[in-house]
Amino acid sequence: MTATLPTASRETLLSLEPALRAEIRGQSHVIPRVISVLQRGQLGLSKPGRPRGSFLFLGPTGVGKTELTQAFTRHLFGEEKLLRFDMSEFQTQDSLGLLLGAKLGEAGFLGEAVARTGEGTILFDEVEKAHPRIMDVFLQILDAARVTVATGQTLNLSSFYVVMTSNIGSAELLSLQHSTDATLERHVLTRAQQSLRPEIFARITEKIVFHRLSYEHQLEIAEKFLRKEIAFLHAQGHTLTVGDSVLPFLVRKGFHPKLGARPMRDAVEKSIGDAVAGNLLAGGDANGRLRVDKGTDALVVDRNSGEACLTVLFSKQTRKCPA
Ligand SMILES: Nc1ncnc2c1ncn2[C@@H]1O[C@H](COP(=O)(O)OP(=O)(O)OP(=O)(O)O)[C@@H](O)[C@H]1O
Ligand SMILES: [Mg+2]
Repeated sequence: MTATLPTASRETLLSLEPALRAEIRGQSHVIPRVISVLQRGQLGLSKPGRPRGSFLFLGPTGVGKTELTQAFTRHLFGEEKLLRFDMSEFQTQDSLGLLLGAKLGEAGFLGEAVARTGEGTILFDEVEKAHPRIMDVFLQILDAARVTVATGQTLNLSSFYVVMTSNIGSAELLSLQHSTDATLERHVLTRAQQSLRPEIFARITEKIVFHRLSYEHQLEIAEKFLRKEIAFLHAQGHTLTVGDSVLPFLVRKGFHPKLGARPMRDAVEKSIGDAVAGNLLAGGDANGRLRVDKGTDALVVDRNSGEACLTVLFSKQTRKCPA
């Protein structure tokens, strides 16, 4: 008997790459490697008795490690199937009880979350900070996809992907301006192997170093945030068009070479949010044209600017606003 794939599953897998590329910018070396593991996992080709796939995502802060995990989980299973644990909160001896239950009858955060979701992705952030006894649990998860909780029940994690993230070695990475990507990757991987136990490192399917984000990629990300913010406000009943000067303004406010795209997200949310709030507090609505006010170096919304233009971004299908 030949096993064929249901059409819906095939379509979900075939649309994974464009979906990830639409969300994640400047990490094009990462996406094919992640997709390869996910395809094998979804097609039932990963090793029995192991997680469907496991990843170690390394690299500086704010460059897309968590975003990529969220994006593939959302695409394959739905957002609610991402179970997220920040290992900076699991650094003490007692943390094991938090994760797997402290006394008889408790399943712990992991046990409860796995029972609730059944399949999906388990994300362990800042993995190097976990207590050594939790590292033992990682080993069991990666090796056998099984872990016993305080209820006495053994969890089966073979329907889950496991993602571990870490910034190990990245401070140096940001200071080594002139090295090639290959040299930087080797440096970060060596540091990660030293910090995590070698036996954990060896059992992870894909270990990937994310790069710092260039100015050009941050510009693309700013556009993505801007689109999302405009769509969010539209859903709240505020229809905005965007003047030409807005995107360069946001990039100037939000670009940070070492902190990745987080400051950009904050700049977009704050600048546009303040402009909209200004209009609402003045008693008006916030429908109109978003532009930069040179005097205050802030964004403002000009109301009733009519049908002067559509939302102006760098995309091909939008029409340019008059200057
Ligand atoms: N490469 C990228 N493409 C698109 N958006 C990105 C990218 N990198 C970061 N972002 C955006 O920046 C924010 C922070 O990114 P993310 O949470 O993925 O950082 P991280 O790499 O996990 O950092 P940390 O190590 O601090 O956890 C998110 O809102 C995300 O949308
Ligand atoms: Mg993260």
